[in-house]
Amino acid sequence: MALMIGSRAMDSSAPSQAGAREQRAQATQAVQRGRTLMAQYQCGSCHHIPGVSDAHGANATSLAAFGQRSYIAGRIPNRPEMLARWIHHPQELIPSATMPALGVSTSQAEDMAAYLHSLK
Ligand code: HEC
Repeated sequence: MALMIGSRAMDSSAPSQAGAREQRAQATQAVQRGRTLMAQYQCGSCHHIPGVSDAHGANATSLAAFGQRSYIAGRIPNRPEMLARWIHHPQELIPSATMPALGVSTSQAEDMAAYLHSLK
């Protein structure tokens, strides 16, 4: 039984490498979309965000090196799905959050989260 599982894993190594390449390409595209979307939604009117045009706002915290942060807004674990939820609707995670919901869709928020997590 263990041997069969082992040989199946070896047989599938070529396609899984191609799959990993495809996944990396998709991740890169999400990061690029996220950067463009954050400029469009003017996140930079409140935040400083490296790499996003006109993002020099000082009303809220800088999002520089956000990929290295442990927490979102000081208390939510900074995981990709949590960050996307925060961007989509901050008050769903923290009712007293002072960042406004900006009408960002779920998939747009995922792309923005991918960009922010690429900042190291
Ligand atoms: C009107 C100003 C404003 C705009 C526009 C804005 N934010 Fe915020 N943002 C805030 C404030 C204020 C906080 C702090 C919220 C809190 O702690 O209650 C915050 C917090 C955050 C955090 C957590 C920061 C930290 O230090 O943990 C992230 C990430 C974030 N915003 C992303 C975005 C993104 C992405 C956009 C664009 C879709 C955006 N923000 C647009 C005001 C803004």
